[in-house]
Amino acid sequence: ADEPLVLGIETSCDETGVGIVRGRTLLANTIASSMDEHARFGGVVPEVAARAHLEAMTPTIERALAEAGVTLDDLDAVAVTSGPGLAGALMVGVSAAKALAVSRGLPLYAVNHLVGHVGADLLRGEQLRPALGDVGELELPTVALLVSGGHTSLLVVRDLVSDVEMLGETIDDAAGEAFDKVARLLGLPYPGGPQIDRVAADGDPLAIRFPRGLSLPKDMAKHRYDFSFSGLKTSVARWVEKREATGEPVPVADVAASFREAVADVLVTKALAACADLGIPRLLLGGGVVANARVRELAASRASRAGVELRVPPLSLCTDNGAMIASLGAQLVAAGRAPSGLDFGADSTLPV
Ligand code: KG4
Ligand code: ZN
Repeated sequence: ADEPLVLGIETSCDETGVGIVRGRTLLANTIASSMDEHARFGGVVPEVAARAHLEAMTPTIERALAEAGVTLDDLDAVAVTSGPGLAGALMVGVSAAKALAVSRGLPLYAVNHLVGHVGADLLRGEQLRPALGDVGELELPTVALLVSGGHTSLLVVRDLVSDVEMLGETIDDAAGEAFDKVARLLGLPYPGGPQIDRVAADGDPLAIRFPRGLSLPKDMAKHRYDFSFSGLKTSVARWVEKREATGEPVPVADVAASFREAVADVLVTKALAACADLGIPRLLLGGGVVANARVRELAASRASRAGVELRVPPLSLCTDNGAMIASLGAQLVAAGRAPSGLDFGADSTLPV
């Protein structure tokens, strides 16, 4: 085949991801997560994540090669996340990718994690989209909402390799981080997102009106596409404290549902505002928070009302993974981009 065989390495947060693609075809998507090691801290501990990446790296590469049925000799290029993310964690991936590239004489491509999330949507494979006929190709330009425990960003993608613009991002906590923190104060285990989702199913989303951070009319100009979740988190904490002071039980399901509603509302409102403002009737979702039932539901119903085509890649490609990095790497190769060389580092605040 003349399409490039690319191995991608992702270590920006707590997932050691190694993916292998041939062009747009997914061959392997292997993940080792240090999530369990962070559970008792209630959030990702950077130092713990970096050490875990180091331990997991070689076995994860080996598993990915086996899964794809290829060897290192078959590879045409290596791609790696160089940022944004946790500096120490990124450094492990970057070092591994450089070692692999140098030892095999392969071109190395440094890629942006956020743009990688968009690259995930290009991938095709038997196991991914059994109903591919219904999905169709990713059309550009598109607005992309990328929400995880590490980032909450709104992008406009006009060309995957040459024209990606950051419209806005969180000015404090990431949305997933907010889920994790609120879960913790409700006594639910880490990671909090799935727990809140579960508990919220039995709650009333209209029980408590929690604030929508940087809401559109109020912060129209400067922060129109930015997000803020720390005020929401504090507001939930105050509400729970007040209730506890009365001696009455905390209605955990109602709090969870109302909090989840506030997050979903602000995410979807801003993403669709961007679509409307820019005249782009397409919205792509990515990141672990896309697993959230209410986020998906609200995005689907409001997008359809607004005439916006909503795209949600399979969840295994929404959460952090190496295949999305390999996919973007393959696009760079296909576009004839020069490799990155070896003198790039890990950049925790890498712009798109
Ligand atoms: O993309 P991801 O796996 O990568 C990291 O950020 O490491 O996202 C994980 C985040 C966590 O904060 C988790 O609580 C959140 O995504 N998450 C959810 C749900 N499932 C995972 N948040 C809300 N609802 C969910 N169902
Ligand atoms: Zn991510």
